[in-house]
Amino acid sequence: MASSKSKGRVSLDERFYLSADDFFPANAGLGLTYDDVSLATRYSEVLPRMTRLDSSLSDALSLSLPIVSSDMDTVTEHRMAIAMALNGGLGLLHYNMPEADQVAEVRRVKNHIHGMIGDPAVVSADDTIAQVLARIEHDGLAFSTFPVTSSDGTLLGLLPGSTVKERHGQRKVAAVMTPRDKVFTVAEKDLGKDPIATADRKFSDHVGQNKLLVVDAKNKLRGLFTLSDIERISEESRAHVRPTRDADFRLRVGVAISVPRTADGEIDRARLLAHVGALVDEGADALAISTAHGHTKGVGDALRILRKAHKGITLIAGNVTSGEGVEFLAAAGADTVKIGQGPGSICTTRIVAGVGIPQLTALYVASRAAAKKGVRILADGGITKSGDIVKALTLADAVILGGLLAGSREAPGKLMEINGKTYKEYRGMGSHEAMRKGSAARYGHSASGKFSKVAAEGIEALKEVSGTVDQVLGTLAGGVQSGLGYLGAANLAEHRKRARYIRVTPAGQREAAPHDVIEIKAGS
Ligand code: XMP
Repeated sequence: MASSKSKGRVSLDERFYLSADDFFPANAGLGLTYDDVSLATRYSEVLPRMTRLDSSLSDALSLSLPIVSSDMDTVTEHRMAIAMALNGGLGLLHYNMPEADQVAEVRRVKNHIHGMIGDPAVVSADDTIAQVLARIEHDGLAFSTFPVTSSDGTLLGLLPGSTVKERHGQRKVAAVMTPRDKVFTVAEKDLGKDPIATADRKFSDHVGQNKLLVVDAKNKLRGLFTLSDIERISEESRAHVRPTRDADFRLRVGVAISVPRTADGEIDRARLLAHVGALVDEGADALAISTAHGHTKGVGDALRILRKAHKGITLIAGNVTSGEGVEFLAAAGADTVKIGQGPGSICTTRIVAGVGIPQLTALYVASRAAAKKGVRILADGGITKSGDIVKALTLADAVILGGLLAGSREAPGKLMEINGKTYKEYRGMGSHEAMRKGSAARYGHSASGKFSKVAAEGIEALKEVSGTVDQVLGTLAGGVQSGLGYLGAANLAEHRKRARYIRVTPAGQREAAPHDVIEIKAGS
């Protein structure tokens, strides 16, 4: 690769396109965010599809996609967390729900063993094939092979898809099913620590079998593996994006914690530790103390309590926008610090409280403090397009998305139709409605307060429905990979080293978006 320096002189490029450590100090005192800056392209031998986006939130928690879904009640519950982990990212479950419900949400993610269907669709021996066909049609099922069970769940046989035909419509399931003693099964107790590997071995040993039924000691159906799922999982290890899994092959999940207080305002240690203990017992992989102002005694104290009680767990804390804030949270035990105060698409903190730092400047300051302390940082809020993620990842280890995911199918909330378009609700955790549901403490207000008298720091809004998380993340990851290709970076470590910045004027910002045309089809 050609050196940019010739005989000790500073090259033209080096004078104009500055590294982070030249660019941000040269702009000290100025708050810069994503659209204020553009990245210079560099000599490249890297094709976008060759780039890797691996990152980590701690030594114990690696991601193959550096994207985390926000711990907001209109963004992350178990469906979002499952989809995020399957795509190589991570979901942070919100805490606007009773503690027991949050534990159940963790359980749902951890029990989502991709490949073992825990609650398979079954038919009864008395059904006719015509009834089975009607059910397939009604429920829109993409398969026609069913375990046959009695009303108490006892396995009686397997109805092969080859018999589920109109011509056999009048026959009973019992007459055409494969009887129990010929069904390919495995005992639940023999699944071992790695059920997928066990199923994989069984399919290899039994040529021609493509459904493996799991039964308990009383012959009750407990689950089902299909050969195609198992093969998909085997391919994962070779695929570009690998799901975020723990050592037991379960999907990983993070959980936002609300820090309970006693009547006199002290941290309720007993209650905090009991709840966190239940989350950890279910397999929670990361705990996040999410507040609007993380550089506070309360957040520091809570972190120290959690770090002492759970040495190995990944602790995320925030939010801060200063080097001192990062160092404070790192010293209290955080592995990862969330950076962002007021950049979010539904945030009004900067308007209401007059505080906060535009994201890129905040990320630069935080990243240098984090490097000193050996912790990671998350860029939280304000990301509206893949190019913003490319810029954030020059300074941060991963990004948190709220608005970009809130319109996806897996986000909680009902769909609503307005003028022929479909929308989902998206609201700030500092909005009156969200605070009433439990997030008041995040904004330093009493959970039992009268919220109409408190200044909200977030709005309630709608997002147009944007497809599935797979689709949204696929598009974003593709954009990020293009960014790395333009910088000649094969991975995120190289991306950070090769980033060169330039400020963009308002005219430059206009130039960056489609202009002087009538748009007939929006780009993705
Ligand atoms: P985006 O831009 O991705 O931002 O929609 C999501 C992030 O915004 C933060 N958040 C808030 N900030 N008032 C705020 O000032 C609020 O009501 C609020 N709710 C969420 C949060 O960090 C989230 O990840």
